[in-house]
Amino acid sequence: MKEKLRIAIDGPSGAGKSTIARQVAGALGIDYIDTGAMYRAVGYKALREQIPLEDREALGAMLSATEIDFSGGNTLLDGEVINDKIRTPEVSKMASDISALPEVREKLVALQRQMGSSKSVVMDGRDIGTNVLRDAEYKFFLTASAEERARRRWLELLEKGETVSLEEVQADIAARDHNDSSRPLNPLRRAPDALEIDSSHMSIEQVTAFILRRVCPEQH
Ligand code: DC
Repeated sequence: MKEKLRIAIDGPSGAGKSTIARQVAGALGIDYIDTGAMYRAVGYKALREQIPLEDREALGAMLSATEIDFSGGNTLLDGEVINDKIRTPEVSKMASDISALPEVREKLVALQRQMGSSKSVVMDGRDIGTNVLRDAEYKFFLTASAEERARRRWLELLEKGETVSLEEVQADIAARDHNDSSRPLNPLRRAPDALEIDSSHMSIEQVTAFILRRVCPEQH
């Protein structure tokens, strides 16, 4: 393998990015950085501390007193493991809203660049190929139809024991798609040099295998 390998995987909510990115990183023995979890962590903290998004001063103070890290497969917020706490619909919505604010993006993008500067990584998000790691060696843009993404997210929530209707999940996905692609700052976009994969009719394993064949044809 090359000395430093950075793989960017972008795409809308529910396209399977994080599962696939984690599998690709595992197969290559390199780190996985879930940038969505970082926006979720900040959103979760703002909710917990009841900071309204309009209160930019309080938000700024909160951001400067916030540490986010990944360790042993866990997401850490100020040293506390927050893996499941940031996966609720309430935090999803807040993460999407808070991710549009310049001060939030500035802080998290700097942290993400730092994480990807010294080692090989697989990083997934919305603006990795277009902004965070513009010079990544490999870029993928993972999509699936809105219906399929809603169906997958709904099944995931049912498995977790949450009672939510498919229509609600569809509406939530449509709102987040709109939010994430219409914000002025680093919206969700395919980088011109990213390879688009439509996973509507592919399994997670098929997409992972496809990416691995591209990155390491000699081994996969
Ligand atoms: O990938 P996710 O659903 O966990 O991301 C949560 C939110 O964070 C998503 O609605 C948009 C935002 N996000 C972003 O703006 N930029 C990224 N690189 C990753 C996520």
